[in-house]
Amino acid sequence: MLEDGSIGRAAVPSGASTGVHEAVELRDGDAARFHGKGVRRAVEAVNGPLAEAVVGLAGEDQALLDETMIALDGTPNKGKLGANAILGVSLYRYVGGAGARLLPVPMMNIINGGAHANNALDFQEFMIAPIGAENFFDAVRIGSEIFHTLRATLADAGHSTGVGDEGGFAPALSTADEALQFIVGAIEQSGYTPGEDVTVVLDPATSEFFRDGVYDYAGEGVKRSVEEHIAYLADLVGRYPIASIEDAMAEDDITGWEEVTRVLGSKIQLTGDDVFVTNVERLRAGIRDGYANSILVKVNQIGSLTETLTTVDAAHKAGYTVVMSHRSGETEDTTIADLAVATGCGQIKTGSLSRSDRTAKYNQLIRIEEELGSQAMYAGRAAATVRGRAGWRWPGSEVVTPCLSPRRTAGGQAGWGMIDMEWPAR
Ligand code: PGA
Ligand code: ZN
Repeated sequence: MLEDGSIGRAAVPSGASTGVHEAVELRDGDAARFHGKGVRRAVEAVNGPLAEAVVGLAGEDQALLDETMIALDGTPNKGKLGANAILGVSLYRYVGGAGARLLPVPMMNIINGGAHANNALDFQEFMIAPIGAENFFDAVRIGSEIFHTLRATLADAGHSTGVGDEGGFAPALSTADEALQFIVGAIEQSGYTPGEDVTVVLDPATSEFFRDGVYDYAGEGVKRSVEEHIAYLADLVGRYPIASIEDAMAEDDITGWEEVTRVLGSKIQLTGDDVFVTNVERLRAGIRDGYANSILVKVNQIGSLTETLTTVDAAHKAGYTVVMSHRSGETEDTTIADLAVATGCGQIKTGSLSRSDRTAKYNQLIRIEEELGSQAMYAGRAAATVRGRAGWRWPGSEVVTPCLSPRRTAGGQAGWGMIDMEWPAR
């Protein structure tokens, strides 16, 4: 609450396939309450030391607010006060400067597996991205049509149409091939061209099944060496219209990451989630050693807005694309929708076309698009090349010279928007 009476409210999400290098989410660990997942300690941290430290500071001085809280915690991973406590204070609706008007391409997770579903699919997320849509609203319509076509085809084939953690279907399939065939079929049956109107995005979340140096596909019943796993991904990319893979390799398999980037980095987007955990130092290692070409950004992985914006900035300067992301354990908070537009990152991953924790973000983006009116621009096929390195692009798109960049306002506060706006004709 600010002196002028403005009130902000924030809720912080939680993950299931968390990276080991993430900021700590403080839970009580008291088995008698909420299976140990209670957050009384985090709430005490908010109402106690965090409140004491920030009451009286200027609400718009985000950098000072975050620095104050980070210094108060004093640990590298926010283990004392908890990233969930710090972020809850730091996050309020925060939109970039007047130039922010790029609506992101949504990556819609329509089949759930891995840690997000109770089926045998080794890969966690099978997503569609309507790159050929006219605008964001149209992208949601297209995604929704495909989602409901998929429901019908799964049901016809005798599969369950119950949904997983992120609102995608969780049928009892056990191979990526089966899931991809259903998805490509649903895109076609809905009247769209796979790879042209709608492209496919995967998050196999491989840290979850990398054991003893081997990718252990338990659902499929196959163990693949690092080389075999990369060859398998390359084979899928060759057979399906896959434009982007997140966490193609496990968080600590850095040599694997370097190799997959050599093999696939000029063809598709390779997004680092667990390997970077929104941490600028870990991202810098990737930029230095040449692995991945894109980063997934989850605000609660690092725990403050200022650090998140620093990471986005570093990625963009290095020509890495940025995908703004939710968590599997989401809330109704829609801040990431605002952040995707504020940073002009052009891509958002926020789940399926069901469950209001997911659709709330789509609704917020539709509201932002409406508010922007004729100023709004949908990233579409250009999303992957806005700041991406030359050499790879969504299928069907022209190569685009980077034309957007974050800027700082005179006061040094984060004032994110676009400069030199010259959007290429598509
Ligand atoms: P989460 O992961 O379950 O940790 O939120 C989602 C993801 O891997 O992107
Ligand atoms: Zn992921």
